[in-house]
Amino acid sequence: MKAIRVRETGGPEKLLYEDLPVPSPGPGKVLVKIHAIGLNFIDVYYRTGLYKSPLPFTPGMEAAGTVEAVGDKVSGLKPGDRVAYAGALGAYAEYSEVNAAQLVPLPGDIDFQSAAALMLQGMTAHYLTHSTFPLRKGETLLLHAAAGGVGLLLIQIAKKIGARVIGTVSTEEKASLARSAGADHIIFYAREDFELEVKRITGGTGVDVVYDSVGKTTFEKSLNCLRRRGMMVLFGQSSGPVPPLEPGILNAKGSLYLTRPGLPHYTATREELLWRTGDLFQWISDQSLRLRIDRIYPLKEAARAHEALESRETAGKVLIQP
Ligand SMILES: NC(=O)c1ccc[n+]([C@@H]2O[C@H](COP(=O)([O-])OP(=O)(O)OC[C@H]3O[C@@H](n4cnc5c(N)ncnc54)[C@H](OP(=O)(O)O)[C@@H]3O)[C@@H](O)[C@H]2O)c1
Repeated sequence: MKAIRVRETGGPEKLLYEDLPVPSPGPGKVLVKIHAIGLNFIDVYYRTGLYKSPLPFTPGMEAAGTVEAVGDKVSGLKPGDRVAYAGALGAYAEYSEVNAAQLVPLPGDIDFQSAAALMLQGMTAHYLTHSTFPLRKGETLLLHAAAGGVGLLLIQIAKKIGARVIGTVSTEEKASLARSAGADHIIFYAREDFELEVKRITGGTGVDVVYDSVGKTTFEKSLNCLRRRGMMVLFGQSSGPVPPLEPGILNAKGSLYLTRPGLPHYTATREELLWRTGDLFQWISDQSLRLRIDRIYPLKEAARAHEALESRETAGKVLIQP
C-alpha cells in the first residue's frame, strides 16, 4: 500500500510517500481501508517533533473508511462495515490498523468525507462546549482562529446553546465565514488589539470563557479578556507553545481558572465517544451543523496540505484522499 512516512522530524518535506506492507490486524484491532483522511494541526506537531512518536511513523489521526479485516477478540464489527475514528496515529495511508474500541459505526447518511471532516474537530468542539466549560445560554465566549477547522464547528455549537460568540480571524474572507457560522462579533487579531475590543464589546466585564488554540501569540492577552473567575481553556498552540506560567498570575487577574485539555481524556470511555459522535451525526443529519471542506489533497501531496494549514491559508477542514 501507499503511505506517508516520517523518518526524521522537520518541515513538510519530511513527509515521504512510500510503499509499505498492508498490516494484518492484531488482537483487538481492525484493519480499515481508508476512504478519506482528516488533516489536523496535531499532524504538524507530530511532524515537527513537538509531539513525540518513535521514528519512523505514519502520521495522521483521523479517517473514515470500511472494515477490511478484524483481529482476534473483536466483536460487533465485520468486513464492509463503514466506520470512522479520531486519535490513532497512522491515517496517512491506504490502510490503517486501529483499536476496535476507537471505531465508530457511520450512519447511512454520513459519507466518508463528512465523517473524516467531523470526527476530530467536531468532538473537540463538542467537549470544549459541553464538558470543559459547559456553556450556558447567554454566556459570552472568546474564540481564537474562529474560521479554522475547530473554530467554525465550535461557533455553530455555541450558537445552538445560545451563547454569544466573539471570534478572532486574520482575514476578511475568514471573517465572513465565521459570521455565516453564527459569530456575533469579529475581531481582526492581526491588526486590532483584541483585548481592547473584547473589553469594549463586553462593556468592561470580560468574557466567561476563552477558547484559545493559538497559544504563544494570544495567551497572555486572552487572560486579560476574562471576567472575574472566568475560565481560560488553552487547547492548542498553532503559533507555538505558551511559556511557563507563575500560578499567582491567575489570582492577580481575578481568580481565574486555567485548563489545558486534550481530546483523548474526553473520549476515554466508549460511552463518551458515542455520546459526542452521536450528537454530531444527529446535527449533520438535521442540518443544524454544517461542515466546510476547504480543499482536498491527494495522499502523495500531504506536504502541500501541511504547508497550506501552517501558512494560515485554510478555513474549515482540509482532507487528504488516499
Ligand atoms: N486539545 C485538543 O483536544 C485539540 C483537538 C483539536 C485541535 N486542537 C488545536 O486546535 C487548533 C486548531 O486546529 P485545527 O486543526 O482546527 O486548525 P485550524 O484552526 O484550521 O488552523 C489553525 C489556524 O490558527 C490560526 N493561527 C494563528 N496563528 C497561527 C500561526 N502562527 N500559524 C498557523 N496558524 C495560526 C490561523 O487562523 P487565522 O488565519 O484566522 O489566524 C489558522 O488558520 C490547533 O492549535 C490544534 O492543535 C486541539
